[in-house]
Amino acid sequence: MSEARQVQDARTAPVLVWNQLKDLTTEELTRWRTDPIKNNRSPEERGINLPMPCGWFVVCYSDELEIGEVKPVNYFERELVVWRGEDGSPRVLDAYCPHLGAHMGYGGKVNGNDLQCPFHSWQWNGDGACVDVPYSKSIPPKMKKPSCERAYHTRETSGFVWMWYHPEGTEPTYEPRTFDEVADPDWSDYEKHEWIVYGPMQTIAENGADTAHFQYIHGVADSPDYDINFDGHCRTAEVYVKMGTPKGIVDGTIAYGVDGPGQPWTRFTGICETLMLAGVTPISKHITHLRFAFTQLKSDRDGESGGLAKAVIKDICKQLDQDKVVWDRQKYIENPPLCQGDGPINDFRNFFRQFYAGEEFDKYRERVAGLTPD
Ligand code: FES
Ligand SMILES: [Fe+2]
Repeated sequence: MSEARQVQDARTAPVLVWNQLKDLTTEELTRWRTDPIKNNRSPEERGINLPMPCGWFVVCYSDELEIGEVKPVNYFERELVVWRGEDGSPRVLDAYCPHLGAHMGYGGKVNGNDLQCPFHSWQWNGDGACVDVPYSKSIPPKMKKPSCERAYHTRETSGFVWMWYHPEGTEPTYEPRTFDEVADPDWSDYEKHEWIVYGPMQTIAENGADTAHFQYIHGVADSPDYDINFDGHCRTAEVYVKMGTPKGIVDGTIAYGVDGPGQPWTRFTGICETLMLAGVTPISKHITHLRFAFTQLKSDRDGESGGLAKAVIKDICKQLDQDKVVWDRQKYIENPPLCQGDGPINDFRNFFRQFYAGEEFDKYRERVAGLTPD
């Protein structure tokens, strides 16, 4: 991590986008975060048909999947089914049964560690191989083989179930990061928030490299001055801040990072110990599901500083609301006219292209003249 620099974090709200949100009640704001939006231009007109990146992505929270539970999920422009076997492990398959096409997320049942299709009871293991056809002496040989096209690698860590996405079924090249705080009894249970953003993953991820927007969209007094480190599949940054609190100015540190494209995290220390773990998962090339899960030191959250602890979370969610107003309707500008102070946006885009692969990336390269090859 590079040497962090000191910036001010006094707020100069209201910011312009707040005009779009200020009249919403708390309930309306919560609904707005995931509601479909109206009067939007098509993805083609907005130029946002970027490829979906490869990596580990959140499928659901661990506590949303009991042993023996089956859930339909819709990510990567695919119908998927996730279930938890009796051994406690989650598994993810394409939802459509290869036999006659039933959607196994609706009526499928867990038998041991396998999934039983509701239509004719064929049973599938987590590798996508058929292990039983109850009314037949034989299984079609092709169906007995594991399938890297229909089965997805899964992991479970830090309270999330993860799946590996690669358009060509390539094996994982890194692992999702584990955060010990999540299992530590001194840290609170997750406080969860979510958004559906009508924009591609790359645009959302670019926010951290867009240093100029903090002042104008989020009301930070000065554009923060910090270095972003690009290292393999990770990027990290660390910022020292002075925060105005009910107890006066307090020195704090914000450390943030992203592992691959799908696992951002931010650690706030000094003000109120807070760890935010995010899951960013593509629903499609141009719609993205964002989850923010906060855990805080219980002594901060439940003690005298409880009000401040809640305010930290509220402020971070407010920032996401502010960004979403733009992201939902933003056009993607390839080769943007950047100027001094815009932040390392091109470095970020070059970094992010490492997560693109397959046919969609080829089409994207063809579409975009002058795109730097790998
Ligand atoms: S469609 Fe699944 S077993 Fe027939
Ligand atoms: Fe932002």
